Amino acid sequence: MIKRFTKGDHSIFHGDIVEVLKSSHIKNGTVDLIFADPPYNIGKNFNGRKDRWSSRAVYMKWCKEWLELAIAKLKPTGSMYVMAATQFFPDFDLLLRSRIEILSRIVWAYDSSGVQAKNNYGSLYEPILYCVKDKYNYVFNSQDILITTKTGAERRLIDYRSNPPKPYNNTKVPGNVWHFSRVRYRMEEYEVHPTQKPKVLLERIIKASSRKKSLVLDLFAGTFTTSTVAKEQNRKSIAIEIDEDFVKIGLRRLEIRRSYKFQKLEKQKKPYIKKNKKSEDENVIISKGAKILPITKKNRKIV
Ligand SMILES: C[S@@+](CC[C@H](N)C(=O)[O-])C[C@H]1O[C@@H](n2cnc3c(N)ncnc32)[C@H](O)[C@@H]1O
Repeated sequence: MIKRFTKGDHSIFHGDIVEVLKSSHIKNGTVDLIFADPPYNIGKNFNGRKDRWSSRAVYMKWCKEWLELAIAKLKPTGSMYVMAATQFFPDFDLLLRSRIEILSRIVWAYDSSGVQAKNNYGSLYEPILYCVKDKYNYVFNSQDILITTKTGAERRLIDYRSNPPKPYNNTKVPGNVWHFSRVRYRMEEYEVHPTQKPKVLLERIIKASSRKKSLVLDLFAGTFTTSTVAKEQNRKSIAIEIDEDFVKIGLRRLEIRRSYKFQKLEKQKKPYIKKNKKSEDENVIISKGAKILPITKKNRKIV
C-alpha cells in the first residue's frame, strides 16, 4: 500500500519503489532531476530490511526494473544521478548507456579513520553516474557550483601567457573527483541511518542540474537529504521510501508533520556522551608568554 504525505511543494511516498513508480502518482515526463541512491547489495542493515540479493543477476534485474520506470518520469531535458557500489558500477554503466546518455562517471572520495581491508585495497570512494536524457539539451548551471582553485589566484600566480599578464582565475567548475567527508555521527546533520549522504554532495548535484521551482525526485530517500536540500534551494521535491521509521525522519526534516501516529516527531538523540567541561579543559593547551603549556593544576595557577 502506498501512503502519500504532502505539504506545499514537497511530497513523500511511503511505499515500495516499483509500486510507486508503476502507480499514476508521478506522471511520466514531469521530473527535472532524479537522484537514485539504492541499496548497494553489500549487506547493510536498513532497519531490518535486506540489502543482499540472491545473486548479481537478481539484483541487477530489480535495478533494471526501477531504473526504466524512473527514466520515463524524466522530462526530455531531465538529468539523473545514480549511485552504486564499486563492484556493481560496471553493471549499472552497461545497463544505463543503452537507455540514457552518461556524461560523467563521478568518484565521490572520502577518507576513513575506521578499520580498512587488510588483504586488499579498502574502498574509499563511491561511484556516481551522471546521466542526461538529451546530451544536446540539458540543464548544467556551472556558475552555481564553482570551487576555489588550489593553484592560480590562491597562490597569487600571474598568467604571463596572456597579454597583458593577469592573475589566474581563482575558481573553476569541479571535475569528476569529489572530496566530501561522509556524515559522521557528531555532525549536526546526522540522522540515525546507515548510509546517510552529506548535504554538500546533494547541494552540488541540485544546484548544477536543476533550476528554482524544478521538480527533484529522490528514489530511495533514507534520511531525506535530497528533499531537504531541494527545499533549501527552492526546488520542488518528491521522495520515495519504504521504511516507516525513515519516512518519519522525512516528515520531520521537511516539516510536513509535527507528529505521527500521535507521537511527536523528534530527532533521535545522537548515541554518544558529550565530554564534560572539566575533561575538555584538561586537553586544552594554553600559552604563557612564548611558552605553550598543557593545562595542569600547577599551570592553572600561572594563568
Ligand atoms: C542507500 S539508502 C538511501 C540514503 C539516502 N540517500 C540518504 O541520504 O539518507 C537506501 C534506502 O532505500 C530504502 N529502500 C530499500 N528498498 C526499497 C524499496 N523497495 N522501495 C523504496 N525504498 C527502499 C531503504 O530503506 C534505504 O533507506
